[in-house]
Amino acid sequence: MDKLRITGGKPLHGKIIIGGAKNAALPLMCAALLTREKVTLDNVPYLADITTMAKLLVQHGAFLSLRDTSAGTPFTPDMPGHYSRELSLTCESIPNIVAPYELVSTMRASILVLGPILAREHKVRVSLPGGCAIGARPVDLHLKAMQALGAKITLEDGYVLAEAPQGGLIGGDVYFEKVSVGATENILMAATLARGTTTIHNAAREPEITDLAELLISMGADISGLGTSTLTVRGVTALSGTTYRVIPDRIETGSFLCAVALAGGDVELLDARPATLGVVIDYLREIGVDIDTTDDTIRVRRDLSKPLKPKNITTEPFPDFPTDMQAQLMTVLTQAEGDSVISETIFENRFMHVPELGRMGANIAITGNTATVHGATPFKAAPVMATDLRASMSLIIAALAADGISTISRIYHLDRGYERLEEKLAACGAMITRVR
Ligand code: EPZ
Repeated sequence: MDKLRITGGKPLHGKIIIGGAKNAALPLMCAALLTREKVTLDNVPYLADITTMAKLLVQHGAFLSLRDTSAGTPFTPDMPGHYSRELSLTCESIPNIVAPYELVSTMRASILVLGPILAREHKVRVSLPGGCAIGARPVDLHLKAMQALGAKITLEDGYVLAEAPQGGLIGGDVYFEKVSVGATENILMAATLARGTTTIHNAAREPEITDLAELLISMGADISGLGTSTLTVRGVTALSGTTYRVIPDRIETGSFLCAVALAGGDVELLDARPATLGVVIDYLREIGVDIDTTDDTIRVRRDLSKPLKPKNITTEPFPDFPTDMQAQLMTVLTQAEGDSVISETIFENRFMHVPELGRMGANIAITGNTATVHGATPFKAAPVMATDLRASMSLIIAALAADGISTISRIYHLDRGYERLEEKLAACGAMITRVR
């Protein structure tokens, strides 16, 4: 089991190139199931979740090829390396319509094959995902949406069996009583091949949804309302192949902003997309971090002699504060002078980083889905354990600011969502090494 060893107290200086967004690449890969032609995705990050999705699609019958499109230069403060891949996917047919438990149980996003295979093959069997570290995470909203397009859903021995009417799905009105990123992505893909028009009400507005819609449009889909909570899809009989570049990862970007906020220094993030960070940049500025942006770069500076101000945060769907940034910003707020109240409204168990931060000196009280951070409590190095993807990043941010050498175990959680994180940070002066 790999561990990370971090010696804190080193400000960060240099440049980091942001990788392709994991949460965009995963649905984009599933969209390739909708056509017999080749779909080529560039700027695909090299992450465990991407590999798992690739395995899932291959067992459905997809042919995949990977081409390294990295800039290849080694990571240095002046010329950061850029490791990206061009992934081509061709699904001429889908001989296997079953998404098996052993793959689905390792990655919740596997449910995203439901809509495309149902739309194209009119029948699909997907294992129920089961819970995950941060909550139960059911799929009821996905299933109700498919039923609105005429699908018959039956649950049998832990699998969802979905069947479309004779002739395929029928366009209709989909109403989400709760905003769901995955359910919006699933029904958006299914609706592109349904007969007639589908209107999705209360759709999620995350940038990854817009990225998926742009890909589908480039494949010949007819979608309007991008970026709003009402998406209209006019079904077409077939979609064609395309070439498309995955958007930069807004959560990786926000994570690096939080790292500099606590470690101090001056870092420029390249191939970023500040517009996709919603209120994250505004909040960090209010807290006391200097941030300057252009369309595709962000310069972040923090002078450690300047105190940070507390801020109350509530996680909400985009464009409000993202749940995927909650652990990272909570870590920053432990160093603010005063109390910050953080409410997590999206997931029911996303405070597992709190006890680990406590071991490093943080003073955080939890009541239900609200955490009260009492700052400032300087971090002391300690051995800590990662519990989920974004919690891993919060512990790294704490360790970068802690006095002494910290070790972080179970970083397989980290490898699901951050590519070569220790290389990117080390190139900016962090003392961080991966211990096999
Ligand atoms: C996506 O998960 C992201 N994952 C998550 O990022 C992110 O935290 C989440 O959206 C919210 O922004 C990917 O894109 C692969 P939801 P998703 O459906 O689609 C409940 C990360 O760290 N719900 O918007 O699964 C659900 O339990 C990951 O990169 C239902 O009740 O999230 C949750 O409480 C973690 N029924 C809330 O809605 C359903 O049918 C939001 O879930 C579906 C969801």
